[in-house]
Amino acid sequence: MMEPVSAPEARPKKPQSAGQVRLSAWRVLRLLRPYAWQLMIAGCLLIITNALGLAFPLVIRTLLNTVLVQRNARELNQLIGVLAIIFVAQALIGTGQGYLVTSVGERLSFGLRSDLFRHLQGMPLSFFDQRRTGELMSRVTNDVSLLQTSLTGNVLPLASEIVVLAGSVIITLTINWRFTLLAMVVAPAAGLAASLLGRRIRSTTRGVQEGLGDAGIVLEEALAAPRVVKAFSREDYEVGRFDQRMRQSLVHALRRASAQAVLGPLSGLIAFSGVTLVIWFGGQEVVAGRLTAGDLIAFIFYMVLVVGPLISLSNIYSQIQAALAASERIFELLDLPTEAALDHSPLAKLPDASGQLTFEHVSFTYPVAPASTGAQAILRPRVLRDVSFEVLPGQVVALVGPSGAGKTTILSLLLRLYEIDGGAIKLDGIDIRGVQVKSLREQMALVPQEPVLFGDSIAENVRYGRLDATDDELYRAVAAANALVFIEDLPLGMETVVGERGVKLSAGQRQRIAIARALLHNPRILLLDEATASLDNESEALVQDALTRLMQGRTTLVVAHRLTTVERADQILVLDQGHIVERGTHGELMELDGLYRRLYTRSFEDPGTITPSLV
Ligand SMILES: Nc1ncnc2c1ncn2[C@@H]1O[C@H](COP(=O)(O)OP(=O)(O)O)[C@@H](O)[C@H]1O
Ligand SMILES: [Mg+2]
Repeated sequence: MMEPVSAPEARPKKPQSAGQVRLSAWRVLRLLRPYAWQLMIAGCLLIITNALGLAFPLVIRTLLNTVLVQRNARELNQLIGVLAIIFVAQALIGTGQGYLVTSVGERLSFGLRSDLFRHLQGMPLSFFDQRRTGELMSRVTNDVSLLQTSLTGNVLPLASEIVVLAGSVIITLTINWRFTLLAMVVAPAAGLAASLLGRRIRSTTRGVQEGLGDAGIVLEEALAAPRVVKAFSREDYEVGRFDQRMRQSLVHALRRASAQAVLGPLSGLIAFSGVTLVIWFGGQEVVAGRLTAGDLIAFIFYMVLVVGPLISLSNIYSQIQAALAASERIFELLDLPTEAALDHSPLAKLPDASGQLTFEHVSFTYPVAPASTGAQAILRPRVLRDVSFEVLPGQVVALVGPSGAGKTTILSLLLRLYEIDGGAIKLDGIDIRGVQVKSLREQMALVPQEPVLFGDSIAENVRYGRLDATDDELYRAVAAANALVFIEDLPLGMETVVGERGVKLSAGQRQRIAIARALLHNPRILLLDEATASLDNESEALVQDALTRLMQGRTTLVVAHRLTTVERADQILVLDQGHIVERGTHGELMELDGLYRRLYTRSFEDPGTITPSLV
């Protein structure tokens, strides 16, 4: 028996080329486009507050040159008035602008999460076979959060700091261009530091997020299966697994922290060495009488104004690098093709089928995760080889065979959950690849081997089969599925919420709800993956009875474990290792004296079912 191959852990720590970086930066900006208006208003408010802030050194200059030197008290009062107005205006504008920016961030992450979820819903089943739930959840939650905080916290500040910086530089240039240029000789050093540390911040952020994703896998698995964890007393083991992966994240986070911690102060140091140059040179000018003390001090104030934004710019830059790392992980998901994208051209809807099914020389191999090596792909066995059969409308066809023979796979292929490698599957003579996937699936219902119930009321779980069903239809479906018997005993009846996985219900009860769901869906074609050993005798009889009602007037393809089902089938297909080895009715196959007879005779010791371990 082959274990399903799990996707090899993806470690895409590929270095990003400059082109890719620019691309994802551009895409991040495009995410903000719906909020252009809010951002523009917020930007204007920012410019105003900053312009007001720029007036401050001018006030100081007046204070020094006019008030203090000329001892003018009236001018002082005016100055204080101006200062008060500036500060109040700044506070008010800051409030409005803060709300605008934060609300954009919240909406952005809402929209992005919604898009991601929609996209994930559209992914083909093979994608979910290859990816781990916890890791995907981490991208939808952690990466979007990181993008939100590091983006909205920084896009406007970035604009504002640039405005302040440009303003300060222009003013310093007009006051004394030689000093300004002198201070700027240190600029290349600052640029180099930012570039090196920025790259490091980005790659470590990717590591942090990957670690979080890995930890999310453990989180999801351990929390979803507490029964197994506790039965084997593996609580400490799970804690260890979780910590180990969180530690990966921590190691990267600490490296990032050191890079971020260095970047701001280092930029400050570099910038202040520029200022120091100016003080040294300017001081000499004042001593030589070529410059007034007030001018030098005002100039130094502006220089300090320049240094502030430089330091915050470098911090913003580091945040933006983190945002880009998160956005790459988000775009990676969004760029994967969905099922709808697999339909090359807008396809026709499948007309209401009469229910004639054909498999023509179908062969199939489960797809491998794209990240894995070719060697592994070569080793993968064909799951189905040259499978051909026909089911006429209203017929019941039973699939029988040892475990791993490919029975469930055939049902999945009919639903077009996977793409076949060769041959064709036709419904009423129409190739199922030639019609809209949705219209195909609408005409089928699947009752899986282990039905999944959602953490909602029984009524809602049944309604999943058809969302617009009336209460009356719902009731009739539940009754026909023999589910009313136990539902009436529940305290809230149909409104009883079944646990996250319906754990409060027995296997037989869950199956009857799944049958009611399928009945409500009222499909032309019924796909049944029978449950075996999990049912006791009484449940078995009730389920069987419900199934008989469900199959009436429908084409049914059933993975059969119960003799009653097998014996009643119009046709039995015996599968072994992905190949149909025998076909016929029960009587014919018994006479053939092959695999079917062996399976049947063995089950004779345990009447009622074909030995579950074999089927
Ligand atoms: N999602 C999957 N990805 C890869 N291999 C799979 C997957 N599901 C089943 N297989 C493999 O395909 C083969 C047939 O599986 P299946 O159709 O489930 O068998 P059956 O229902 O007859 O027991 C098995 O070898 C199984 O390991
Ligand atoms: Mg199966």
